[in-house]
Amino acid sequence: MDIDHTNVSGTHGENKSRRLATALTTFSIAAVQLASVWALGITEVDAQTQASATAPVPARPILIQFSHVVAVDTAKGRAALKFKELAEARTGGQVRVEVYPNSQLYKDREELDALSLGAVQMLAPALSKFGGDFEALDLPFLFTSHAQYRRVVDGPIGARMLQNLESRGFRGLAFWDNGFKVFTANRPLQSVQDFKGLRIRVQASKTLVTQMKQLGSEPSVSSLSNVHEALRSGKLDGQENTPINIASQHLHDVQTHLTVSNHGYLAYAVVVNKYFWDKLPADIRTTLEGAMRDATAYENSLAEADNIRALKQIEATGKLNVYVPDSRVLAQWRQALVPVYQTSEAWIDPALISDIEAVNQAPP
Ligand code: SIN
Repeated sequence: MDIDHTNVSGTHGENKSRRLATALTTFSIAAVQLASVWALGITEVDAQTQASATAPVPARPILIQFSHVVAVDTAKGRAALKFKELAEARTGGQVRVEVYPNSQLYKDREELDALSLGAVQMLAPALSKFGGDFEALDLPFLFTSHAQYRRVVDGPIGARMLQNLESRGFRGLAFWDNGFKVFTANRPLQSVQDFKGLRIRVQASKTLVTQMKQLGSEPSVSSLSNVHEALRSGKLDGQENTPINIASQHLHDVQTHLTVSNHGYLAYAVVVNKYFWDKLPADIRTTLEGAMRDATAYENSLAEADNIRALKQIEATGKLNVYVPDSRVLAQWRQALVPVYQTSEAWIDPALISDIEAVNQAPP
């Protein structure tokens, strides 16, 4: 159970020994995998470049392992499979994509280390998990619509964010949507005061940790795969997530109240190991970029409807009370969370926040 009762100074909620243990575990898994992955990936790519004219379908295709932490029946889960289908068909079998959903290979905190080490080639982590400027997109009540969020990531700001990943050894290929987050808890969350003293799970983002502290609760950073058990056993009182993640992880089974707060946005960046990607033959890379473009359009066409459907399904179970705050209550929450913007300037460039706000205010 990797729950940290964290504070803002404990970067991304991890203490040193935990980080070391995670890195060592990841490194040992990766070390075993590296030989086979890079043998299948890099050296095989080089061999294919020389042999491509005579052997259109190599005996051992280039392997892309795509790891993610959510269920198959989500927009991300289905789009990962769509990418597999398109990539394999369009390369005529020269590329094989193995999709590992639901934290089967790596949990939240391990997966970026695994990508750095080349133990997997492709991920689609929530933006919160990249830290730094990406955490600007975690700011509470930053966006009021999907369209607003999309204008930011589809424009120069999104391009710059993906570009900045290169220095970390990642190539950013696309932004994939999820949607607006809601809160669940084992008691009603109707006013700002209701959060006081509650242990609420958030992703590893200093902005999200700050958000929960500002509401007077005790933020707890943990992997998505641990949240159900922590809520069930009472180690956590509540959490924030999108309806589709709540429904597909069955979190509504272990909570009594849900507040449709739509207070923050959850979305993804699809990233690959840059060294692996740059070593691919140019024609294969171009084909894969096309497959990713189409898988991205597919993902982004599913996400909003998925969340509407999931919220209805959760309500229909009758297992928890659903509360929809009115605009007066939401204005109070928004006001209570304004200080998160100032505090976050310690790790987010204030100019970026102003740039995002300018895009939000520009006419569509
Ligand atoms: C995800 O949607 O990939 C995970 C989000 C979370 O950790 O809550």
